[in-house]
Amino acid sequence: MFIMNKNNESENLVIASDELYSDLKSGMPLLVFDLRLKEHYTHGHIEGSVHAVCDSRAKETIMPKIPKGVKIVLIDEDGSISAPTAAMMASYGLDAHFLKGGIKSWDKSLVKKDIHTIITPEELWHKITNNENLVLVDVRQPEEFSDFKIPGSINIPLGELFDIQSLNKIPKSKQVVTICPHGNRSMVAAFALARNGINALSLVGGLAGWGQVLNPKVVTRDDVTVIQVEKIGKGCLSYIVGSKGEAMVIDPVYPAEKYVEFARNEGLQIVKVIDTHQHADHVSAAREIAKITNAQLYMSKYEQYDFTSNRVGDGDLINLGDSTIRVIHTPGHTAGSLSYVLDEKYVFTGDILFVDGIGRPDLRDNAKEFAEDLYDTLHHKLFALHEETLVLPAHHGEQSGYKNSVYQTTLRDAKKMLMLGLSHDKFIDKVMNTTLPRPMNYEKIIQINKSLQQVPTLDVANLEIGPNRCAIST
Ligand SMILES: [Fe+2]
Repeated sequence: MFIMNKNNESENLVIASDELYSDLKSGMPLLVFDLRLKEHYTHGHIEGSVHAVCDSRAKETIMPKIPKGVKIVLIDEDGSISAPTAAMMASYGLDAHFLKGGIKSWDKSLVKKDIHTIITPEELWHKITNNENLVLVDVRQPEEFSDFKIPGSINIPLGELFDIQSLNKIPKSKQVVTICPHGNRSMVAAFALARNGINALSLVGGLAGWGQVLNPKVVTRDDVTVIQVEKIGKGCLSYIVGSKGEAMVIDPVYPAEKYVEFARNEGLQIVKVIDTHQHADHVSAAREIAKITNAQLYMSKYEQYDFTSNRVGDGDLINLGDSTIRVIHTPGHTAGSLSYVLDEKYVFTGDILFVDGIGRPDLRDNAKEFAEDLYDTLHHKLFALHEETLVLPAHHGEQSGYKNSVYQTTLRDAKKMLMLGLSHDKFIDKVMNTTLPRPMNYEKIIQINKSLQQVPTLDVANLEIGPNRCAIST
């Protein structure tokens, strides 16, 4: 417990109930934290205050995000806890105060509400797909926001949420969700909005957590089962292929356990797991799935991996229940990229061919060589398959909204892309002249994907934060 050295120190921090009342009415930058037990807060609290737990976690995560110049008032039962806590916060340079005599000294009215201040990424995804009336307020700085964002979100930096004018940008009839990288700034934002009577929900785990939500969609449950699993925050697409109770997972992402759950829901057991290529934009969960399910792990024999796996290459056949997966070497995105043809009806193209674009060859050096390979792969290997073959890629492009349906096309339709109508020389020219920013942390991610290095799931979320950048859109 913090002990006051001098009485006048605590006197500087004290605020009487009348002063707090007029501060709350004034519209000044203010945060009022109620430190009492949650049930006491729910039973009756000062309007505009938020329930807060002042523990060591809050000290590390929330406190540093509170903008300077914002007045903070702490409330407890009688002032005995709020006084030393305010002194501690003041010692960190915050303009912290406490309500003299605690809630007992408050002679104005109290409000009774059970206010929720958080929303999990899964709950947010559920609300988005249900078309609920939401306004997503991204509270990062404009330069962070312009780099990538949740489609449809608006940007009001945290500091501006204390300015009453900025609040007019928020539609009053909608549920507000505040968003930031890890859920700390957005929590302060939700507090700032609560002080102005807006009940906002802070996205737990922020954009890093959002990046880890997986959404399974059924491609087919015909002779064979194909489930497309979308990592919605990243646009990564992976697959569960099932036949006769056996499943193979293609290009899995974290969290690995989700594939076991999705396969089980289809009555399938994962027996094989494979990547199309060495990924640069996300951490592969192939090894992790093989470990937790005892499944056979397959990798391209044209790429370097420092762990043991079955190596496959051009012309190899992999059996799964009643189905056969034929391996074709399709270089151009990486030199060792493979595509998998399932029963001559479906082709898993990795990052070579997308629904509305083609792979980018410049994640490694030697762009010209890769562009030549890409042309050859597309025109002479993939287009040699039957036109009706369904193309199932490993990514979709950045887009303006969410599409809760399968990303797929046929080879016949894919051929209509402008890029694919170009002559060889024009194609090479165009591909080589298209430079796109590289995925965040791509060198580290490649290193993890080729090595035995283990990464905790939380680190995966942090490494992968940001958009996918594997495609050249046409
Ligand atoms: Fe890739």
